[in-house]
Amino acid sequence: MNAKELRNAYVNFFKERGHAYIQSSSLIPENDPTVLFTTAGMHPLVPYLLGEKHPAGKRLVNYQKCLRTGDIDEVGDATHLTFFEMLGNWSLGDYFKEGSIQMSYDLLTEVLKIDINSLAVTAFEGNENAPKDMETYHIWKNLGFRDDQIFFYGMKDNWWGPAGQTGPCGPDTEIFYDNGQPKCSAGCGPSCRCGKYVEIWNNVFMEYNKNADGSYVPLSQKNVDTGMGLERVLAMMNGVGSPYDTELFIPVIEEIERLSGKRYADHLKEFRIIADHVRAATFILGDDMGVAPSKMDQGYVLRRLIRRSSRYMRKIGIEGCRMVSVSKIIVDNYSDVYPELERNKEFIFTNITAEEEKFNKTLDRGLRIADRMFEELGNEKVLSGELAFRLYDTFGFPIELTEELANERDVSVDIKGFEVRFKEHQDISRAGAEQKFKGGLADCSDETTKLHTATHLLNAALRQVLGTNIMQKGSNITPERLRFDFNFDRKMTPEEIRQVSDTVNDAIKAGIDIVCEEIPYEEAKRCGAIGAFDGKYEDIVKVYTIGDVSKELCGGPHVGNTNELIGFKIQKEESSAAGVRRIKAVVGQF
Ligand code: SER
Repeated sequence: MNAKELRNAYVNFFKERGHAYIQSSSLIPENDPTVLFTTAGMHPLVPYLLGEKHPAGKRLVNYQKCLRTGDIDEVGDATHLTFFEMLGNWSLGDYFKEGSIQMSYDLLTEVLKIDINSLAVTAFEGNENAPKDMETYHIWKNLGFRDDQIFFYGMKDNWWGPAGQTGPCGPDTEIFYDNGQPKCSAGCGPSCRCGKYVEIWNNVFMEYNKNADGSYVPLSQKNVDTGMGLERVLAMMNGVGSPYDTELFIPVIEEIERLSGKRYADHLKEFRIIADHVRAATFILGDDMGVAPSKMDQGYVLRRLIRRSSRYMRKIGIEGCRMVSVSKIIVDNYSDVYPELERNKEFIFTNITAEEEKFNKTLDRGLRIADRMFEELGNEKVLSGELAFRLYDTFGFPIELTEELANERDVSVDIKGFEVRFKEHQDISRAGAEQKFKGGLADCSDETTKLHTATHLLNAALRQVLGTNIMQKGSNITPERLRFDFNFDRKMTPEEIRQVSDTVNDAIKAGIDIVCEEIPYEEAKRCGAIGAFDGKYEDIVKVYTIGDVSKELCGGPHVGNTNELIGFKIQKEESSAAGVRRIKAVVGQF
């Protein structure tokens, strides 16, 4: 089975069981300040998991572009990937444990023809908040699973969510592929990392709501949220040990072999890091909401990916700026499924090369600084962890580069000290990421809802003042402010800013009701609704109309009347990227 067949088999299986297919959302979340990237198929669905009505119905299926940065340093082994595709199906208050597990079982055994003896499953062992999930246990048992194939674990392994501090969450049942190798110890099971068990599917039963006081209350709308890793399943289906040995990576690996003149088998780690990172970078740049490398947020992750792969390319003997020829293979390989890569390929290739060139310069400067550090050591034969970390932090030097340089000079590196600093840094960035996560993924608060409506008014006002070629390029809302990016190639004049602001305030003062309709996609297009959502849903879409001011395709939520916003103020108008301007604005009494 190839990737295309697997995506189709999954989608068709669930379509036949009443699920509506929805397209993959952007890799860069819209209107969501809480995460840098879409990390699961459920992210774009959060409002619907919280009770908003989804225009396509209560049963949904898709494959979603996802990116996870938490384990970037583990990439290079057989299973970790930065970018991956998640196959997912959802029940929004429809079927629950029984239906979900039965369908997963049928898909795995009947469509993918996996021997049940090669599977193991897990369930929640229970704690003070929720009981042991015996229902899940019995369902698997009735399907023929033996007791030694069913494992119970606690919160860490078998509980998912809430996405924010509060919100829907619940126990999950995870499905693992058991590759048949002997257990590494008596306690070896799916939670063990020895490689025997590979997680392939996670079915989350969102039956609780976590409240701000920490209590868990049963939800009236019980949802199912599942996610299956496409690359891992593909590897399993093809009897190979790793996604890198599947058709998704083989041409990429071959190109790296061609460029380097080295063999993959001799340099597994380096090849995998290059292939993984260039693929992730290509998808970040190639997204319709794509960003360029920068010092911040998504741009910073992208920069690291490009620099790390550039470094590994040098390491296996690829000189100069050759990353684009790897990226080209990825664009060719994926364009039929993700046509945005083809559309945005100029942007992808230009930015990759520019970043590679920039890194080559940093690398040279970093090498000079490193030289000086070594000289200043004098007779001391150890480079401190602090200095090694500085090389990492400032010049993006991976620790092994610093070690190589040190070895050449008969100096050792205080790796432990480096790791302490590195971990502190990671903890800071993880804490940062968690804060972001807490900020409001599950936050459909009054404030963010108002700012969301203000974003529609702003979009309409910009089109009125600057011209109808203005398009939304990105949006990010926190409870404090909105941030809106749009295509425009110069600074706005104070007069234009005033006009836009007045236009929005006029609409607020006019007290216009906001009307939500669910209409066929084509009809929405015909009646002139705007939206960056082109071709997102196959069938019925939601359109929010604000009088004759604005009509936009959107998932919501919005306020009922514009006067709830009270007032609108633009705080900043600045450049965001080449040809893209950014406005930050607030609502309330001014
Ligand atoms: N949200 C769950 C996960 O990410 C299932 O899709 O694993």
